[in-house]
Amino acid sequence: MTVEEDLAFGPANLGLSYEEVMRRVERSYTDLKISELKDRKPFELSGGQKQSVSIGGVYAMLPKIIVFDEPTSMLDPIGKERVFSIVKDINKQYGITIVLVEHEMSEIVKHADKVIVMNKGQVYLQGSVEEVFSQVGKLQELGLEIPQSIELSMRLKEDHYIDKVLLTPAQVIEACSGFQPKTPAAAAAPAPAVKQAAAAGDGREPMREPIIEVSHLRHSYLGDHDDLKDVNLTINKGEFVAIIGQNGAGKTTLARHIIGLLKPDAGAITVNGRAIADRSVAELSREVGYVFQNPDEQIFTDSVEDELRFGPRNLNKGSEYTDGIVEEVLQDIGLHKYREVWPKYLSKGERQRLAMGSIITMEPDVVIVDEPTTGQDWRETLWIMDLLRKLNQKGKTIIIITHNMEIVTRYCNRVLVMSQGELILDGTPKEIFTRRDKLKEAYLRPTDITYIAQNIAFMPDDIISVDEFYQVFREMVG
Ligand SMILES: Nc1ncnc2c1ncn2[C@@H]1O[C@H](COP(=O)(O)OP(=O)(O)OP(=O)(O)O)[C@@H](O)[C@H]1O
Ligand SMILES: [Mg+2]
Repeated sequence: MTVEEDLAFGPANLGLSYEEVMRRVERSYTDLKISELKDRKPFELSGGQKQSVSIGGVYAMLPKIIVFDEPTSMLDPIGKERVFSIVKDINKQYGITIVLVEHEMSEIVKHADKVIVMNKGQVYLQGSVEEVFSQVGKLQELGLEIPQSIELSMRLKEDHYIDKVLLTPAQVIEACSGFQPKTPAAAAAPAPAVKQAAAAGDGREPMREPIIEVSHLRHSYLGDHDDLKDVNLTINKGEFVAIIGQNGAGKTTLARHIIGLLKPDAGAITVNGRAIADRSVAELSREVGYVFQNPDEQIFTDSVEDELRFGPRNLNKGSEYTDGIVEEVLQDIGLHKYREVWPKYLSKGERQRLAMGSIITMEPDVVIVDEPTTGQDWRETLWIMDLLRKLNQKGKTIIIITHNMEIVTRYCNRVLVMSQGELILDGTPKEIFTRRDKLKEAYLRPTDITYIAQNIAFMPDDIISVDEFYQVFREMVG
């Protein structure tokens, strides 16, 4: 019933003394920085908080081998770093063998002793990080992500700036720092913090017509403190917005308000110029669709097709319309072969796409997706994000909540940063990722390529892609 009981459950079942159990519980608190959750009910925590607590429970048992199955998929970037450093620590300090199942290649490169690549039920490649990641072609064939540090160093090697492919950001920083810029004066300052009109990925200017307006929104779940404190923001038609921030910052809570699932303690929200306070959730769902952080909280019918039909049927859209849109979406989400299948049999990625599909068939003006890519491999991630981009290009407003900074820089033209129930930054990806002080406060860090640029004296602070890095580097170094 409480986080403390949850952490104590494992070690208590090992028959350890009360003192030892409590010692281990305390260590989980401190090392995972979750002491403030002690008396909370696990099922009332945010997605990432739940994940930290479950890691804490296993950590408290100190077994000889720990298998982590994507332990950090829902954690904020600093939380991720912390878990990886704990994993490394328990590996070194207690000699515990760690088996980590992980999609985030940039973390594997930094931490693993050995890498095993699986494909279709077989071991496809295995070896040291160097051995495996030198076979970039094979990895790409499987649709796996190539870490930015490796992608960049491959280009640097191709053009003979360096003579071997480097693995980690630290190695790339060291190698690049050895070069001299042709024009030291050009050592660029961060982009001025001027608010520019956000430009969409394809250069199209989104219309500046407000679609969602939140003013002075305040919310408290338990009544003892505010989980949202005076949030003010306007989202315009056609924008592609990311909401990012620490676990428990209030991102999901804000989304639940926008779709009318929660009622504010103070403040107001309008959608399409009309206050939502006295509109029903069902009515609002014609205008704003929300895909849950966990697709299984959303999927409830017995077949893929029924799931897609439910929305339009409920909105009385008529059978001709419904048949048409369901077929179209089945193709788009790549599940036409599975129309009869029980959704529980689908993979996580497929369930995620199905959950998105069931919202898309209602054709709302705004689609909010809470962590669309957690637990997905890179190919699946790009598929889901490209689907959202396509909707955006059709004029839909897209809002994603995510901990994946790489998709923020690739897809979004505006970023909202939340920290402890407040909106603390609002700007383009370039503007946001140069605000290092504020980012730290919100437990965020930029992607590796931005980090690399920020740690090379002559490179600008606001680089957000490998292409951009390489272009600027060549211009500076010659
Ligand atoms: N049903 C609930 N009852 C009580 N407190 C809650 C409930 N749901 C969320 N909270 C608390 O409200 C705060 C904001 O939670 P929210 O789920 O909005 O965070 P989040 O930013 O979406 O985090 P994450 O990145 O981990 O998903 C957290 O402190 C969380 O513990
Ligand atoms: Mg959340």
